[in-house]
Amino acid sequence: MKVSVIGTGYVGVVTGTCLAELGNSVTCIDVVKEKVDAINAGKTPIFEPGLEELIGKNLRAGRMKATLELAKAVLESEVTFICVGTPPKEDGSSDLSFIRKAAEGIGKAIAGKKEYHVVVVKSTVPPGTSESIIPILEKESRKKAGEGFGVAMNPEFLREGNAVKDFMEPDRVVIGGLSDKDVGIVAKLYAPFEGKHSVMRTNLRTAEMIKYASNSFLATKISFINEIANVCEKLEIDVLDVAKGIGLDSRIGPKFLNAGLGYGGSCFPKDVDALRHVAKQNGCEPELLDCVVKVNKQQAKKAIDYLKKALGDLNGKKIAVLGIAFKPDTDDIREAPAIRIINWLLEEKAIVTAFDPEAMGNAKKTLKGIVYAKDEYDCVNGADAMLVVTEWKQFGEMDLQKAKNTMKQAVIVDGRRIIDAKKAKASGFKYYGVGMKNE
Ligand SMILES: NC(=O)c1ccc[n+]([C@@H]2O[C@H](COP(=O)([O-])OP(=O)(O)OC[C@H]3O[C@@H](n4cnc5c(N)ncnc54)[C@H](O)[C@@H]3O)[C@@H](O)[C@H]2O)c1
Repeated sequence: MKVSVIGTGYVGVVTGTCLAELGNSVTCIDVVKEKVDAINAGKTPIFEPGLEELIGKNLRAGRMKATLELAKAVLESEVTFICVGTPPKEDGSSDLSFIRKAAEGIGKAIAGKKEYHVVVVKSTVPPGTSESIIPILEKESRKKAGEGFGVAMNPEFLREGNAVKDFMEPDRVVIGGLSDKDVGIVAKLYAPFEGKHSVMRTNLRTAEMIKYASNSFLATKISFINEIANVCEKLEIDVLDVAKGIGLDSRIGPKFLNAGLGYGGSCFPKDVDALRHVAKQNGCEPELLDCVVKVNKQQAKKAIDYLKKALGDLNGKKIAVLGIAFKPDTDDIREAPAIRIINWLLEEKAIVTAFDPEAMGNAKKTLKGIVYAKDEYDCVNGADAMLVVTEWKQFGEMDLQKAKNTMKQAVIVDGRRIIDAKKAKASGFKYYGVGMKNE
């Protein structure tokens, strides 16, 4: 099928590339020229393992291109995916202005089109949003929904760092539609998945709610294990063993039970807040989700508590922060716990050196007043403590003896339990980890 994709952020570029890989002819659209140029040059505008190869392959096969010209790309396609951002507003609600703008553009573009066109919202949006763009599309296109065009909602569940695999081998595909016809047209794009992966057909609002409920549930799992970790610590029980023990229960499952310094990223904080906002707007008190957020906010502070326990006053102490991205295998630092932690360290007048394998470029744009290191060893050189904030594999594989030889004090605060505590102690480190017996 001929597909246009509006927005080439994480979701848009992965959606466009993977739909091309499935054999469709895809045009990716953005307002940022650098992103469009990058894609047309076979480069990925975001860091995502495996994506660049796939972009190059599909460009060469003539199945994929990028453009700044929305109207032409939409007109020449049968289905348009809206993958623009839905950032949080001050009150926790979602800013839907990018969605409306995209809908206006699509409406204008299809005004002169004879064939039926399906508009698919892929961005994460509050229930009711996909219905709310119908009047915009009708006004701009002077067509009636269900006659001249259709509307569908197809939430995206990809995880940054694993996005290509998540798209190509999903646990499920959810397609909500204004009508069975619209759902059916979108389902055709996912036909290669039939029999291998579940494709759930539903209405627009349910599809929107499934996405919010999924992210809120995962955030709840993280705050739950963090709360358990804090109790474990007091009782000198290792939360890793507890997580393993409960994760073996098939009703619970082992994923999202890694105790640490809390969740971040562009999705969980914003989606949980948006769902809380939607709940309140509709007369419900989201008490559980309020606590999930509260636990998460407190959890990052544990990094400072451990450092103070190990070093006393942090004024003038040199802290090596390992990891800035909100999780490994991404360069995304949106709502990353590291940002809050580094700012608290600076308030405490600590001297901060930081390193991240992929997020240095993004970090340098927003985080000032710190030193950026070349690698993890350069980062810990002369430090009073190393603080692991993001669980990059290479931090867990560090040569601890080599690190210790250049550090001022042998202290590890492992906010993600990625460094082997026994090995660290055997190498002469004082080791502090979330959810275990600490010194
Ligand atoms: N990042 C994720 O892991 C993830 C996962 C699932 C769902 N989502 C959801 O998907 C949506 C997009 O997220 P993202 O992280 O890809 O966002 P992003 O901010 O990285 O990218 C959005 C892109 O849309 C472009 N854009 C905005 N308005 C446009 C317009 N009118 N025409 C053309 N391009 C336009 C921007 O320039 C930008 O490149 C959000 O609702 C998000 O919540 C994100």
